[in-house]
Amino acid sequence: EKDGYPSFMEKEIHDQPAAVGDTLLGRLDENGRLTLDEIKIDETVLRSIDKIVVIACGTAAYAGQVARYAIEHWCRIPTEVELAHEFRYRDPIVNEKTLVVAVSQSGETMDTLMAVRHAQEQGAKVVAICNTNGSTIPREADAVLYTHAGPEIAVASTKAFLAQITAAYLLGLYLAQLRGNKFKDEISTMLAELEAMPAKIQRVLDEVEPQVKELATGMKDAGSVLFLGRHVGFPVAMEGALKLKEIAYIHAEGFAAGELKHGPIALIDQGQPVFVIVPSPNGRDSLHAKVVSNIQEIRARGAETIVIAEEGDDAVREFANHVFYVPEAPTLLQPLLATVPLQIFACELAGAKGYDVDQPRNLAKSVTVE
Ligand code: F6R
Repeated sequence: EKDGYPSFMEKEIHDQPAAVGDTLLGRLDENGRLTLDEIKIDETVLRSIDKIVVIACGTAAYAGQVARYAIEHWCRIPTEVELAHEFRYRDPIVNEKTLVVAVSQSGETMDTLMAVRHAQEQGAKVVAICNTNGSTIPREADAVLYTHAGPEIAVASTKAFLAQITAAYLLGLYLAQLRGNKFKDEISTMLAELEAMPAKIQRVLDEVEPQVKELATGMKDAGSVLFLGRHVGFPVAMEGALKLKEIAYIHAEGFAAGELKHGPIALIDQGQPVFVIVPSPNGRDSLHAKVVSNIQEIRARGAETIVIAEEGDDAVREFANHVFYVPEAPTLLQPLLATVPLQIFACELAGAKGYDVDQPRNLAKSVTVE
């Protein structure tokens, strides 16, 4: 069942081109318009939405954070992301004009389910993004957008994460299309770019994996690893840190790169490994330059910098101890590529330490208690 891979996790990392491709499948009509038949919420209701709240836990919540950047940009609807277990207890402002998006691989996470129920009690409509057919959260939600990642066996989530992000992009583009946003061209460009992602993920696996594995085996004794990212790279950094904690039992933290100077830079010491996810140099704003200067700052303080950047981005080389290049993509879609080396890194490192990658200590695949 592992298709010859040493662990389910490694197999599932390799399933990702298919997971993303299958999640896109059948959702575009012949004119390249998005059709989400599963969203059985009245279109007038969807047009009247004035706020979106994404609720989820763990990795699914990081997918939600990526979704926020995309949905706000494409739909101009204020979007919040909240950990499901925090959401309920702060008396959230949710009503008939709120669309709640519950993201859950298993569809059985009790914290997320309770948050769904709470939102529905306040009159909100709930769309579930879920990987498990017929599970509780999609059954109780008003609509469901299934991710087609296939069963995920390894406790640490990989392919479900990329599929969740993909589904969230589709939801964002669908809402933008429905609300007649002026971004028509951008919607069709994005859909075409999404269609190109499975092949690009495959390239990361083919070209980057061997280099990442080599680095990981040499880092067996790392005591702590930091991850920095900005914009959509921020949740990617958080996800990279979570993977390492979960399966390699290494202390890891993800930070927003801009936050570095507000405290975390004090942690940087000789030899401290730091992954940095660099935004596309072709993106808007000056984010790329800012992140490159972050790399320069930490390198000057002795950090071992491990950089994930877009192909052709030569500016990062000067300050990077290691660079992993991923194919070019629109900034908002970059998480589908930049996450993959981080998953491989954690998986390989945990394996090198002799741990059971698929069944990390203290964790269960689905958390059905609050
Ligand atoms: C991390 C991981 C967990 C889950 C979280 C939510 O690798 O697997 O953080 O993402 O427990 O689970 P679901 O998506 O099933 O609601």
